[in-house]
Parts: sequence; C-alpha cells; structure tokens
Amino acid sequence: MKERILVFGGSFDPPHRGHQALLDAAREKISPARVLVIPAYHSPWKENSWALPGDRFLMAKLAFLGSEISRIEMRARRRVYTVDILSRLKKENPGSEIHFVIGSDLAARFNDWKNPPRLRELAHWWTAMRPPRQGKIPPFFNGLKKPMPEVSSTELRESLLMGEDVSSKVDSKVLSFIFKRGLYGTSIIPTLRKILKPERFLHTLSVARLARRLAPVWKAHSFEAALAGLLHDAGRSVSVSEMKSYCQKRRLKIPLFQEMASLQPVLLHAYISEDLARQRFKVQNARVLSAIRNHTLGALKMGALERLIYVSDACSEDRNYSEAARLRSLAAENPEQAFLECVNAKIRYAVSLKGWIHPLSIKIWNSMIL
Ligand SMILES: [Fe+2]
Ligand SMILES: [Fe+2]
Repeated sequence: MKERILVFGGSFDPPHRGHQALLDAAREKISPARVLVIPAYHSPWKENSWALPGDRFLMAKLAFLGSEISRIEMRARRRVYTVDILSRLKKENPGSEIHFVIGSDLAARFNDWKNPPRLRELAHWWTAMRPPRQGKIPPFFNGLKKPMPEVSSTELRESLLMGEDVSSKVDSKVLSFIFKRGLYGTSIIPTLRKILKPERFLHTLSVARLARRLAPVWKAHSFEAALAGLLHDAGRSVSVSEMKSYCQKRRLKIPLFQEMASLQPVLLHAYISEDLARQRFKVQNARVLSAIRNHTLGALKMGALERLIYVSDACSEDRNYSEAARLRSLAAENPEQAFLECVNAKIRYAVSLKGWIHPLSIKIWNSMIL
C-alpha cells in the first residue's frame, strides 16, 4: 500500500473546533503516515485575513498538536494556489498518495479553484457530510460521516471582538493566545471599559450591537460594523475642554476647525475617535476609519458602513428620545429612509437647542432632498 499523506489547508483565522473535528475525522478514516497542515499565507478566497500570517501559523500549531504545520506558504510570502502546492508535494513524494481534506463550503466551490481537473488528479478529496451553506459538493468528494460542530470563523471573529463567550468553539490554548496577542480586537472592549465613562461605554456597546445586527440589510460587513461601532466614541475619553488642544497636538486635519472648536467643540470627538482608532487600536481599515470620523456630522456621498454607523449612533437601544425606537425599526427595513430621517432628527435637535448647525449638515440635507 502506498504511504498516505493527509493535507489540510485553510486560513485558520482562527483555527476552531470545527477544523479540529474535521481533521480528526479524516485522520481516523484515512490512517495517514503523515499529516500536513498548511496555513495559507493569503487565501485566494479572501480579500484579507484578520490575523497576521505568523500568528495564524502559531495558532495552527496550538490547535493541531501532533500534526506537522507546514511553512510552505509562509515562506513564499504571497498567495499560493492549492494546485501548485500539491504538484510540489507530489514531486517531492513520488510514491505517496495525497489525501486533501476541506470544509464543505470550500468543497462546494471546488470548480472555482485554479485548475480543478489537475487538482482531481493530484489528490483524493474529502469533506464533511454537512451540507454547504451554498452550492453542492462535487460527487467525487468522499464524505466524512462524523458529526462536526457548526462553527464559522467569520462569526467567531465577531464574537471575539464583541467579548462573547466562545470557549465551546475554540481550543483553550488558541483562545489564550488570541487574548494574549489581542487578536480580532479582543483588547478593545476591556480598554474602552477603562477609558470611557460607564454610560458612554454602554452606549458604545449598544451602537456596536445595533450596527452588527443591521449590517446585512445595509450591505455592510458585520465585523467592520461592530468594530466601527465600538470605536466611534473612543474620542469621548478626552474631556470636551481638551478636545481642541488634542487635535492641535496631533495635527489633525479638520475642515472648519476653528469654528467647531469655538462653537461646538464636542463635535471634534469624532476626529479624535478616528485618531485613537488608528494610533491606539491599530485600525487600518479605511472604511472603518471614515465611518468613525463621519459618525456625527456625516459627509457628502457616504458609503454603506458610514451611513450605518451614523444611523446606529443616532438610534441605538440606549437612546431614549421619543423617535429612537421608530427609527431603529425603520433602519432594519429601509436604510435610505432611516438615514434621511436621522439627518433630519439631528438638525431639528440642534435647532431646538438653538445651537450652531455645521454647514456640512445643511449641505448633506440639501444633497438628499434636491
Ligand atoms: Fe459620537
Ligand atoms: Fe455615539
């Protein structure tokens, strides 16, 4: 009998109990002489990965103890296609039989992979029997019949960010590593709890939860929505009397800075939040940063995430003005109308206080109704 090599590839961003169960089931079924786990340097399926390749490699080591964790992709430091990896593996191990195991969602997309006919020649293909969320598993796949826990890395990252209990979904060693390194934004909530006043902290959680819940309807990315929601008021950790000097010290570029600083300095907090998100919380995502910056005043031509954060901030659960609950329901059904009504409500509120109205608010209003 030929020596069998079992290969398990993925982003492992992060590796979870679903991955572990899949590999265990494949190992039991195939009885390989060698198990090779290959964390992708940059998965061809994903726009970007969340944890750095080095961290994903270390997490894979913790999750798949006893398996060989390959640096083949890490060393390449670029996207590598499975067909290239398997060709190389075959060349290096001419007498071996390669078995490749993947999750059912990826299996359903097999025909979108690079060079499917060659892939079929190079390996025996295995996946879980669980039906994929979309599409069908090609018939040449072998099914692993063991029940697998339903865990998705996407939902897991959001839960980690939002401080939810994921101990049943992730190995404890991996989880400790995630917390120690502050991966997936796990250090954000503990930090905000320390730097914000309790009421502001609860408001922040409210906005993040609402934005995350509404994200699919608004066609925004729910992790980005939660992240922007959490950080949108980080700037409120600076007292209003110090906002002007903070902005000057940090040389923030703010249109109409002098007017704002003297007439409504609290409005500066959105720019400070953006600065803190960038500097202190190491956020680089441009959509998230602009959603934080524009959550109070808005901007002309706002994207989906910017509007979502603007509206979530205006009508989160903790808001107790009379219209808030109605706006919240509207936001779940009609994003455009909800945005229009939130801009309207903010202007009316400023008028009722006989406060200064930023010219941008008027411009935004006009751009929507004309
Ligand atoms: Fe705010
Ligand atoms: Fe807010």
